[in-house]
Amino acid sequence: MEINIDYIPHKYQQLIHNDPAPYKVISAGRQFGKSMLARWTILLSAIREAGKYWIVSPTIKQGKDNHWNDPENNILRDTEGWRLDQNITELAIEVPARNGKSRIELKGIENLEKVRGSKLRGVVMDEAAFLTEYSWTNVIQPMMTTTGGWAMFISTPNGFNWFKDLYQQGTIYTVVQKYPSEPPIWKAKLLKPPKQGRLKGWSSYHFTSYDNPFAKPEIIESARLEAISKNSEDNFFQEYVADFRKVSGLIYKNFNRNIHVIDPIEIEDHWDVYRGVDFGFDNPTACVWVAVSPEGKWYIIDEYYEKKESSDYHIGMILSKSQNYPHAEATYADPSAPQNIIDWGKKGLYMTGARKDMGTNKGEWVGHGTDLIQEKLKINPIDKKPTLFVFKGCTQTIREFESYRWKEEKNTELNKPGVPLKANDHLMDALRYVIVSYHPPSHEVFPDDTGMFEGGYY
Ligand SMILES: Nc1ncnc2c1ncn2[C@@H]1O[C@H](COP(=O)(O)OP(=O)(O)O)[C@@H](O)[C@H]1O
Ligand SMILES: [Mg+2]
Repeated sequence: MEINIDYIPHKYQQLIHNDPAPYKVISAGRQFGKSMLARWTILLSAIREAGKYWIVSPTIKQGKDNHWNDPENNILRDTEGWRLDQNITELAIEVPARNGKSRIELKGIENLEKVRGSKLRGVVMDEAAFLTEYSWTNVIQPMMTTTGGWAMFISTPNGFNWFKDLYQQGTIYTVVQKYPSEPPIWKAKLLKPPKQGRLKGWSSYHFTSYDNPFAKPEIIESARLEAISKNSEDNFFQEYVADFRKVSGLIYKNFNRNIHVIDPIEIEDHWDVYRGVDFGFDNPTACVWVAVSPEGKWYIIDEYYEKKESSDYHIGMILSKSQNYPHAEATYADPSAPQNIIDWGKKGLYMTGARKDMGTNKGEWVGHGTDLIQEKLKINPIDKKPTLFVFKGCTQTIREFESYRWKEEKNTELNKPGVPLKANDHLMDALRYVIVSYHPPSHEVFPDDTGMFEGGYY
């Protein structure tokens, strides 16, 4: 059978194809040619060597849109005339290989299952910064140990998350430089010699949108100007310059809509429900409702988020929303606002200041709370799920999870706890009050913590 390869890689795509390293991490801007490179990396490998290959995307739908249904570029078009088989329901194709045949499957992280005994020859982790570390270390890597398979991680950055760590552990071949043209442009430059990495077999590349000769500079420039006008230049640097440094400081970097945001589930009457309240006036007053299942899973089931207004208004709204749920066990509020706590109590919404016995100063106390939340966002290796979920209607909570940042501080002392930026923090604070105050149900045995009560807060 004649195999028709309708692809001429551009200069930098070729550079990556030529690299023999089994693991490649590519941070590249929009329109660099990531999807095209990813697909042809798989196809060229599949033709050479029979085996099973995966293209993994953040969701099945995204994978389908990028690689299967896109009218101009898709894997069916790429393999037309020489494909052996296509399976629409499984989003899989078969192509001939020199030594047999290969199967290429499209996957989303929601349907990633480690298939016991199943071996992968190669995988592309597409939009890797939006995938999970877990999907690599616990699902895919174990399926490649005996095959000597290869992996390509390719993405625009998404803050300081696991993709950045991956990028930094390998040998780095390119840096991006700003050219002082008018308007300015950012382009990759080859490092000679490359910057040696900690791990052997890992190569890292950084390219921008300007590095694709097929990209339209005027489109990139209008994105840049729009970002400046909206005061969101960081976004431009992330999306087009693929720059990690400019988007630092996300606190909940493990938060991922595809994992933590769920359709509402039934909250049973015997579950514990808690409320957390953060007071504001120019800033929103915020309340979260948190349900804890008997298995210890946490669900953010509802939110309230309103600026200005009177305390009577807020109290009325919170009490009326609360009628939808089992009686709240307790309501925790900002302990630095004792006057509000008393006033709201007199008007029928009783609450206590959040526990402040952990941490000796405010920075440590906040850090303790964010640590507890971070812990709950992690994937549990046994059930492959996190401990904390957010119902999809809680849109402000989701937005704050995705934008709550550390304050950038110059001369940070080593080991000094960070301080969050006072923005996008209202529901995050409210949630923190619940989490630092939570006691496991009293019928469970837990370690003696009488020492904690000596701080004089009670
Ligand atoms: N080697 C190539 N030859 C021709 N066109 C290319 C090549 N690489 C990328 N392109 C074109 O550039 C555009 C962006 O490519 P794509 O792979 O979708 O980028 P990304 O996934 O990085 O956003 C597409 O229109 C694609 O057809
Ligand atoms: Mg793409």
